[in-house]
Amino acid sequence: MQPRGLSSATETATRAGRARVLVVDDDALMRSFLEQALARMELHVQTEASAESALRSAGEYAPQLALLDVRLGGMDGITLLGRLAEVAPECTFIVMTAHGSIETALAAMKAGAFDYLLKPFSVEALEVVAQKALGFSRLRRENRRLRARLRRHPPQPLIVGRSGPMVRLRDLTRTVARSPATVLIEGASGTGKELVAQALHSWGPRASGPLVKVNCAALPAGLMESELFGHERGAFTGATGMLRGKFELADGGSLLLDEISEMEPALQPKLLRSLQEREFYRVGGTQPLHVDVRIIATTNADLAERVRAGRFREDLYYRLRVIPIRIPPLRERRADIPLLAKHFLELAAEENGKQIDAISRQVFDVLMEHDWPGNVRELENVIQRAVVICPGAQLEPEHLLWDSVPEISIGGSAGRDAPVGAGALQQLPGDLPLREVERLWILQTLEQEGGNKSRAARRLGISVRTIRNKLNAYSLAPATVAE
Ligand SMILES: Nc1ncnc2c1ncn2[C@@H]1O[C@H](COP(=O)(O)OP(=O)(O)OP(=O)(O)O)[C@@H](O)[C@H]1O
Ligand SMILES: [Mg+2]
Repeated sequence: MQPRGLSSATETATRAGRARVLVVDDDALMRSFLEQALARMELHVQTEASAESALRSAGEYAPQLALLDVRLGGMDGITLLGRLAEVAPECTFIVMTAHGSIETALAAMKAGAFDYLLKPFSVEALEVVAQKALGFSRLRRENRRLRARLRRHPPQPLIVGRSGPMVRLRDLTRTVARSPATVLIEGASGTGKELVAQALHSWGPRASGPLVKVNCAALPAGLMESELFGHERGAFTGATGMLRGKFELADGGSLLLDEISEMEPALQPKLLRSLQEREFYRVGGTQPLHVDVRIIATTNADLAERVRAGRFREDLYYRLRVIPIRIPPLRERRADIPLLAKHFLELAAEENGKQIDAISRQVFDVLMEHDWPGNVRELENVIQRAVVICPGAQLEPEHLLWDSVPEISIGGSAGRDAPVGAGALQQLPGDLPLREVERLWILQTLEQEGGNKSRAARRLGISVRTIRNKLNAYSLAPATVAE
């Protein structure tokens, strides 16, 4: 047995970057031989004298390799192998059995062992088999990681959904992808605008070209201009070299103008000109530049409403909206929820190395009832968290943790747990630091605007980017609040 606590043993092994090996044998001499031989191979070893104690500790120790004696006092090694595989799914198994019982060894192989050792065996034989098994274990881990990455970033974007609106959206996206026309994708936060933009790029003739993304809410007009169009050396103080803009970088591919509604009015005429005339100048440049770029813009906000309010140029609006694609909120296409939930379950289970492959009926009921203000992203977050905390093979309602406008508390330990709702500002103690008052004011406005950052920003007279930065600074996950 390990003299130290298991978690500290796990930590130590991980810190040293050594593979963890579990040895289960009821023979003390054999345990000691294996412990020494494996330690000389730079492995971290934990020994157990019985199947029962091995089962108790394996979940936490998470061995990558286990050497099991077939004939143990209580539960036999083959049964143990099956049980251990459930608690330590990453583990590769080697069984040890006496000469003359080759049938047992073969039975163990059938039960999932990677290899076997016939007792007595030499240190050299042990080393060969253990290294082979660890190599296999590394490959399996790598394979899982690559599969997860491929699922998350498939060569072809995967737009999941079987509702009428989603089937039509997929068809429309396929058709539009073939044309060079400018597309405006409209939809609330988390509905899948970026995913559709990726599909427009990848399913069309420009797939081998670049897909360049610009977040139009990210920078003030001056900086955004050189971000988009580039600048010449010496164009302004600090422009020490020439910089190519996103338009140039997207040549031969697509340019995604994300959150176009947030583009500052000062820059809108310049963008319009470059779209209309198909040419632009680097900041400080005198040579017009021509590029072959397909424009895709996205907006969370109602852009037509922005036009009516005089905050977005009408001519630019029509120039961008050659082909409008609207993605409905998730609550308007509930038939997609089960399919999306299963899709995200597969992704998260693979990424977390968990064998969860089912969602209980009650969970589906709850998911179908929910209103999904954060749309598909919220569903993805809910499933991801559930997978992390689910200990079994099926998601149950108690594993669901919801995205919501977070409850906030007044600084100081006395008020830590007191949630602050709308109107709470009037009840604040007078000695709060200004920073805290600002924080509460922003969160309260957000709450009153139903989590809509754009509307809250407008009311507060600050940019969406500022709100986002502040929220980040308050350590609130950005995805917890809808745009
Ligand atoms: N139909 C879908 N099938 C599979 N995954 C989806 C689908 N719709 C959205 N997703 C996933 O949900 C997440 C959010 O989608 P995405 O980033 O495209 O939303 P968005 O509309 O651009 O959000 P925001 O307005 O906040 O930028 C992503 O991980 C995306 O892959
Ligand atoms: Mg997006």
